[in-house]
Amino acid sequence: MFKEKIKILKEKNLLRSLKDRESPQGSRIKINGKEYINFSSNDYLGLVNHPHIIDKAKKALDEYGYGSGASRLLSGGTVLHRELETMIAQFKNTDSALIFNAGYAANTGIIPAITDKDTLIFSDEFNHASIIDGCRLSVSRTFIYRHKDLSRLEELLRKERARKKLVITDTVFSMDGDIVPLKDLFYICKKYDALLYLDDAHGTGLLGNGKGALSHFNLKPESWVIQMGTFSKSFGSLGAFVAGTADIIQWILNRSRSFIFSTALPPCVIAASIAAIELIENNPALIKKLWTNTEKAVKNIKDSGYDIMGSETPIIPIRTGTIENTLRISMHLFEKGIYAPAIRPPTVKEPRIRINITAAHTDEDIGRLIDAIREVS
Ligand SMILES: Cc1ncc(COP(=O)(O)O)c(C=O)c1O
Repeated sequence: MFKEKIKILKEKNLLRSLKDRESPQGSRIKINGKEYINFSSNDYLGLVNHPHIIDKAKKALDEYGYGSGASRLLSGGTVLHRELETMIAQFKNTDSALIFNAGYAANTGIIPAITDKDTLIFSDEFNHASIIDGCRLSVSRTFIYRHKDLSRLEELLRKERARKKLVITDTVFSMDGDIVPLKDLFYICKKYDALLYLDDAHGTGLLGNGKGALSHFNLKPESWVIQMGTFSKSFGSLGAFVAGTADIIQWILNRSRSFIFSTALPPCVIAASIAAIELIENNPALIKKLWTNTEKAVKNIKDSGYDIMGSETPIIPIRTGTIENTLRISMHLFEKGIYAPAIRPPTVKEPRIRINITAAHTDEDIGRLIDAIREVS
């Protein structure tokens, strides 16, 4: 049965396979003995191998050992977990915060926990799969609104008589690289008394001096705003967080199944995230370099005649039309030593090459990307 299904995927050019890296993550990686310039990681600030992060992780390994052996509600948590939560709450300017094992676990655990039969969820059609799955796990009804269509959202909120409303959006959309018009969305939620749930996975580290989308738009983390984000992208680590009022966080701690029924992250992973926050707060040059690199890449990709599909951030999709063309371009880049994978359905509706720029890329790296792109006929 699965053989037949796999055959169909293959025929449609939709079969995925894994590529195993033989080097550390970074702007240069090795696969099958060959070096590639890597434009596929979410390590936007180039922190994954930063000596401060490795040093802190090693010290935590020595002090606390490796595994955590239990969930946070049992004996899995350490003082480091608590320290990271305090740091994140300060970083996000909220009362409180809670760590999750991954962004996927956060969204699938928090959304069902904060909704019930009387809640209506409003979710942007381009939201991350983990949000979609979180909505599916919730007992609430979900309205999907057209990407960033705030007039439609406002119309829906005005008409709906539900007692509780929850609006959920990515801040930076992970496959398109555009930014939600948060100022308008914020005031719409306020006007219609809706909770606002922000997935700031890609906004944290990139926007608002690293503090994320609210800070970027000069907005306060009001009591009706819940900020979720990850340590797995700009922080170069693993795990996720939710930040909000003490009540909301306490409720999530008590009701989120992915938090309650899952083993805590190892202390060395937590220590790495602590180190990443320290680095981001003390090195504004990192974020500046990321944006300088992004401007350079965007200008050259556009000058080469490509459509970047409305990107406003270091996530730069290149419109490629068909799946066949996407695979052809990705293969050409791969042969030229550039790793920029094809993104295909079902991950996105419209296939594309997604280039992720990081602060670790050099002018030469970006130059080689552009040369390779220009060679594509
Ligand atoms: C917007 C968004 N939310 C959540 C996640 C899930 O995060 P994680 O990789 O930590 O599970 C991702 C990662 O791909 C993402 O892009």
